[in-house]
Amino acid sequence: MLQKEFTIANAASYTDREVTLNGWVRHIRSSGKIYFIEMRDGTGEMQTVVVKGDVPENVFTRCAEIKIESALSMKGIIREEKRAPGGYEMTVRDVHIIHIPPADYPLSKKSHGTDFLMERRHLWLRSHRQLAILKVRSELIRLLRSYFHDNGFILIDTPILTGSIGESAGNLFETNYFDLGSAYLAQTGQLYLEAAAGAFQRVFCLGPTFRAEKSKTRRHLTEFWMLEAEVSFYDTHRNMDLQEDMIRFVADTVITACERELEIIGRDIRPFQNIVGSFPRITYTEAIDVLKKKGFPIEWGDDIGGDEETALSNEFEKPVFVCNYPASIKAFYMKPDPEDEKTVLCDDLLAPEGYGEIIGGSQRNDDYQSLLERIQIAGLDPESYRWYLDLRRFGSVPHSGFGLGIERLLSWICGLPHVREAIPFPRLINRISP
Ligand code: 4AD
Ligand code: MG
Repeated sequence: MLQKEFTIANAASYTDREVTLNGWVRHIRSSGKIYFIEMRDGTGEMQTVVVKGDVPENVFTRCAEIKIESALSMKGIIREEKRAPGGYEMTVRDVHIIHIPPADYPLSKKSHGTDFLMERRHLWLRSHRQLAILKVRSELIRLLRSYFHDNGFILIDTPILTGSIGESAGNLFETNYFDLGSAYLAQTGQLYLEAAAGAFQRVFCLGPTFRAEKSKTRRHLTEFWMLEAEVSFYDTHRNMDLQEDMIRFVADTVITACERELEIIGRDIRPFQNIVGSFPRITYTEAIDVLKKKGFPIEWGDDIGGDEETALSNEFEKPVFVCNYPASIKAFYMKPDPEDEKTVLCDDLLAPEGYGEIIGGSQRNDDYQSLLERIQIAGLDPESYRWYLDLRRFGSVPHSGFGLGIERLLSWICGLPHVREAIPFPRLINRISP
């Protein structure tokens, strides 16, 4: 096991002991004979106090060079200090200066515009709020993985370079692939997960997915992370039960696991207390009626866009499922509803507080002939789907699954205005750097 080292987060167990604190300067002020240096080490922040006479003379002199984002290794005693933020501070005995920036740190305390910050995303990551958001992201992913492992799912890593289109031809990133023609960056791991569900019954994957989205909305990235699950023998209803249980689990556990981070972000966690019991399930047709009554110029057969989703999700305090969309606006692999062949057995889960779609799921078409027809109607080449169609020839069973957008979920959990803050290095239609 890795040897335990001092960190700011575990300062309490080092009270009155001498430790080494490695970190960066958040803020420094001096009153001649004393320096107050606010340090961050990635786990938290702590005030350190350097008093003339307590440290070697030359060390105290060099402290005059220290500025924001200098890197230091400090030795000192941890003291309980009720008035200090975090409740502890360090009385410094020695300072080793590792690095002093050659210029003033560009992200000062005053507020900057989003473009300015996005351009400096590599430094922006160090701010309180961004640290807290990305910590919640890390925790959320850990919780989701644990949920699936604890419920008997096998992790299957699906490919990123693919030969068959997973969702639709409209927003593909395409690249040359040696002598084999075009390859596409995966829009989803689903088709491969369906193959794995035929082997393991319950499977999931979590990885990056790519969509050449031309839309500049607060919900769209061109590279985002998706958690997908696929279960053999599940129909659309059990598929929704699974999504519901997973969302209840993460909403409940993340607010405890990330209490401090959500406080830093300023997220009101009261809405999560409503995420209990079952979630409302309405049909697409019902949703269209609601939207019409609200004055949206929408007709049966139109897709439900971002503003409409916001309006719908505002109607409910819990996440809401919108099911049975018209087949014409959904992907080729969804199973037509036997009761109404114009619609498919699908669900979009809309998060409350106006966040809109966080999950897309469906029961899959498990009939060889009907799936082949849908592939042809979608204008896709059946040859590239031979292996996928094979799954309908050998041990075909009803099966269902879904995809959860990590950044969409995190935006809702943290109450973010835009998904770009929900991923360390966002890829947008107009941004590929840093
Ligand atoms: O609804 P989508 O397109 O569904 C699929 O890809 C299915 N193959 C999943 C499956 O059944 N295995 O995408 C699923 C989720 C959306 O609900 C949304 O949360 C997220 O992925 N998503 C995006 N997130 C950020 N930026 C984008 N451009 C996104 N597109 C989809
Ligand atoms: Mg969708």
